[in-house]
Amino acid sequence: MDYHEHIALRAALDWQIEAGVLDTIGETPVDRYALVPPAPDQPKTPARAEEAPGPAPAPAEVDPVEAARRSAGAAADLPGLRAALEAFAHCDLRRGARNLVFCDGTPGARVMIIGEAPGREEDRVGKPFVGRAGQLLDRMLAAIGLSRAESVYITNVLPWRPPQNRDPKPDEIAMMRPFMARHVALAAPDLLVLVGNISCDAGLGRRGITRLRGTWTEAYGKPALPMFHPAYLLRQPAMKREAWADLLSLKARLEGLE
Ligand code: URA
Repeated sequence: MDYHEHIALRAALDWQIEAGVLDTIGETPVDRYALVPPAPDQPKTPARAEEAPGPAPAPAEVDPVEAARRSAGAAADLPGLRAALEAFAHCDLRRGARNLVFCDGTPGARVMIIGEAPGREEDRVGKPFVGRAGQLLDRMLAAIGLSRAESVYITNVLPWRPPQNRDPKPDEIAMMRPFMARHVALAAPDLLVLVGNISCDAGLGRRGITRLRGTWTEAYGKPALPMFHPAYLLRQPAMKREAWADLLSLKARLEGLE
């Protein structure tokens, strides 16, 4: 294979990964144009019973949410929870992702930020909020004296990037919720910030960030402040005024003033 063929194949593979292709379905290529359809008088199924493959054994019914509850509940600490997610086989998103994106920042910090799902950069690096939205998030936190290095712990509802950054599906959120509940319990922050609708859906069972933002509520047994997602603020800079009010509310709460 020459250099140009290699580059073209690599680009085709990247495009398929980006589009969410999860499986190769055969070891050897099949030329389906060359396959000859059965003659009209030829039975399509084997005639003799002993040739017919029996029904595939029913897969053991596993409730992914229950499996998540058991797996997350058995994790004794944050490294154990990361390992439990790495071993969790029920979420197909993992198969299209380059990396598990578990956390960044300071475990044990008073503030825990919960985002939605990794994007392309986060998937590449294996850390949450490292792309443009993450850089804005860092500037927002710095404006009230907070940083990942010292005072904030960050994670996402989904640890794997959905293909083409599509919204997480309800069943994906449902099977990740027990992991998030355990994550909050093990990280033990004083306060949560739920950024964006997916985070509110997972933590509060509600969406509608425009109405929810700015009002303290409770999620995973902790005081929680819903806020606009920084990716939304990049698209709608006029909403930064509301985000600033929410940041001041977070600061006041940390200082025991609210
Ligand atoms: N958006 C999120 O919600 N989380 C990330 O990690 C990146 C972008």
